[in-house]
Amino acid sequence: MIERLTAASARRLAAVHGRCFDHSWSEAEFASLLHLSSSIALGKGDAGILHGFVLARVAADEAEILTIGVDPDQRRGGCGQALLKSLHEYVRKQGVVRVFLEVSDVNTAARALYERNGYTETGRRARYYRDGSDALVLEKTLSGRGQTPG
Ligand SMILES: CC(C)(COP(=O)(O)OP(=O)(O)OC[C@H]1O[C@@H](n2cnc3c(N)ncnc32)[C@H](O)[C@@H]1OP(=O)(O)O)[C@@H](O)C(=O)NCCC(=O)NCCS
Repeated sequence: MIERLTAASARRLAAVHGRCFDHSWSEAEFASLLHLSSSIALGKGDAGILHGFVLARVAADEAEILTIGVDPDQRRGGCGQALLKSLHEYVRKQGVVRVFLEVSDVNTAARALYERNGYTETGRRARYYRDGSDALVLEKTLSGRGQTPG
């Protein structure tokens, strides 16, 4: 089941995030982000256990995906795809027409997920990440309100 998460889920978010990234975000960082009205976090889980999440920030008709992660034990089961699709539907209803994000050029799994969902490269920041990899700026235009979700 996919549900909207509030600051009350900050601890669970930090725990899954910590299993997804070398440099994880703390519970306090998630809580402060989730207290902002511009933030939208969706989670997918089972019986109260969070398997994956996506966190985005909405400003006017744009949304930026700040982070997305699926617990390593739950990967390749469609969780990331479901979260991304739900996020698109959610923000589209809020009037968002463009979604963008940054991803490391060596992150093949995430790049494949975004490519499959219609994201295209619009920029590159050389040696942006701590491991020396470049950041790719990707973006997707969402279909109009009332049309098939993108
Ligand atoms: C990227 C991530 C969220 C994908 O989550 P997931 O639940 O495993 O993804 P899904 O099972 O929904 O896969 C959807 C599609 O993404 C692509 N994909 C996902 N993992 C992939 C992998 N390891 N290799 C190649 N393609 C992959 C495929 O196109 C896949 O479709 P398919 O299964 O029909 O081939 C997950 O790997 C993750 O949490 N990675 C660590 C955190 C991270 O890097 N986040 C992105 C930061 S920008």
